[in-house]
Amino acid sequence: MDDMTQKKKLIAGNWKMNGSLQANAALLQALRDGLGEAACTVAVAVPAPYLAQVQGLVAGSAVALAAQDVSQHESGAFTGEVSAAMLRDFGTRYVLVGHSERRQYHGETDAVVAAKAQRALAAGITPIVCVGETLAEREAGQTEAVVKRQLAAVVQANGQCVSEIVVAYEPVWAIGTGRTATPEQAQQVHAVLRAQLAAATARADRVPLLYGGSMNAANAAQLLAQPDIDGGLVGGASLKAADFLQIIAAAHAIQAQAATELGAEKA
Ligand code: 13P
Repeated sequence: MDDMTQKKKLIAGNWKMNGSLQANAALLQALRDGLGEAACTVAVAVPAPYLAQVQGLVAGSAVALAAQDVSQHESGAFTGEVSAAMLRDFGTRYVLVGHSERRQYHGETDAVVAAKAQRALAAGITPIVCVGETLAEREAGQTEAVVKRQLAAVVQANGQCVSEIVVAYEPVWAIGTGRTATPEQAQQVHAVLRAQLAAATARADRVPLLYGGSMNAANAAQLLAQPDIDGGLVGGASLKAADFLQIIAAAHAIQAQAATELGAEKA
């Protein structure tokens, strides 16, 4: 980073439609016990009915509360939807928008995703904007075009405020498949996204770019060591405290090493 300050890695768990009052309490307890002095930022994106419970469970800890979706509308006759203001009521710091499962199964378009990011920002919640290509798109050589189109909608709707978002690159073919993008494949796309952000804001460096898609304890360190990979969005492995803690430890170690190198450069 050119300002010689260090950006914290962000490790966010996406529980998807998993959990129960009992399981959530056990998972958060194990996370709190195992976290120690984690130097990276940690968040858990929980199903909406558990926001209140998890708000209590993470209170006073280093774990931030995240939601998995937010309505594009402010309030009103939108049965089943959850507004950004409601998320804020429960101390939600981050919200996923445009996860591929929302795009795929709920028909969310780039425009809807951009509107959701806007609602989150207006409520003071950081949107984690998810982008990523399908296997067919990758095989057709469209990876760059797809992720750029998805991010462009958010940039266009949010202008300078894009410096306040988080972007998660999640290749659809890597989600829940056990097939991870190689660190090189992921870095390549992250560099494209970084350049696109740099064209939109002078503060592109501060936008955390997360990788998601079968990230686990075994592959996290290599992915997180890439220059433009600032963290992870973790699905399956975030449901097991030991696995999630190992990913957090990998981020911590890389960050500690970077801090040492930065110190040596400054000295
Ligand atoms: P998995 O880690 O289970 O592949 O899920 C990734 C994801 O979709 C996180 O949002």
